[in-house]
Amino acid sequence: MKQENSVNNQKLAVMEQDIKIARSMSLVTYKIAVMSGKGGVGKSTVTVNLAESFVKKGYKTGILDADLHGPNVPKMLGIHKTELMVDENGMVPVETANGIKVMSTEFLLPHENSPIIWRGPKKTGAIRQFLSDVNWENLDVLLIDNPPGTGDEPLTILQSIPSLDGMVIVTTPQSVSLEDVEKCINMAKKLNIRIFGVIENMSGFICPHCNEEIFIFGRGGGEEISKKFDIPFLGFLPLDINTYQASEEGLSIIDKDPGSEISKRILDMVTKVEENLKNKRG
Ligand SMILES: Nc1ncnc2c1ncn2[C@@H]1O[C@H](COP(=O)(O)OP(=O)(O)OP(=O)(O)O)[C@@H](O)[C@H]1O
Ligand SMILES: [Mg+2]
Repeated sequence: MKQENSVNNQKLAVMEQDIKIARSMSLVTYKIAVMSGKGGVGKSTVTVNLAESFVKKGYKTGILDADLHGPNVPKMLGIHKTELMVDENGMVPVETANGIKVMSTEFLLPHENSPIIWRGPKKTGAIRQFLSDVNWENLDVLLIDNPPGTGDEPLTILQSIPSLDGMVIVTTPQSVSLEDVEKCINMAKKLNIRIFGVIENMSGFICPHCNEEIFIFGRGGGEEISKKFDIPFLGFLPLDINTYQASEEGLSIIDKDPGSEISKRILDMVTKVEENLKNKRG
């Protein structure tokens, strides 16, 4: 009897949190998850640059850093160790100079290099709390940067946000990465999540002297996968030293060099996603 009561209480707590998540997320107009099959393909870089592009287009934008073990978003946006603030409306996201609201486990750690040693249920709990107890206010766009693959964090994101608009998938041209992308696509299909498109990152190198584009790792894998699964292709992003350096300095390339070729391509990608979002909502 006692055990039954405790199970019922747990179920009730989950239902109550589901309601809180639904309420909090209903205040955010568009919710977009950024995912990849493999690690290190540029998800976080793409996420911060998509966010800066949305800001440039006049959207109130936030980023939920759902990479609990490797939270990179604060560093990429130049946010240094900061105390997490909590007020009567919940946890307060940290705001960048450009107005991007960020929440990350980085803000919960005693030191920047402290490891997170959580297992499955604890990770799920943390992600759900970021959705239910953070005061995202009335954002236009919330981007969610996920760790690679189809583990606890992305699964929780995809299952817990009732009105998730869709996902953007980042890949590199190598086939090993593309095979992993298929897993993401299959996960989205299973959960009935729409895919805004695939971005092929580090897909070539533009010679700074002659502007010729050289495809060091080959090209077109992301485009191929788009055709195979009948999902939009958002475009190619070159391997770009300035993008790497900007991110090391805590800046996005959109912010640092908005006129660069890579920035123009990222802005084009955001326009494609934007059209897609608007079509959906009419
Ligand atoms: N187009 C690019 N040109 C140059 N460097 C890039 C580009 N995209 C990403 N990088 C660099 O590659 C590294 C990995 O990128 P990033 O951290 O965004 O990948 P990730 O997919 O988020 O990785 P993880 O799976 O570990 O979360 C970073 O140092 C980043 O600055
Ligand atoms: Mg990352």
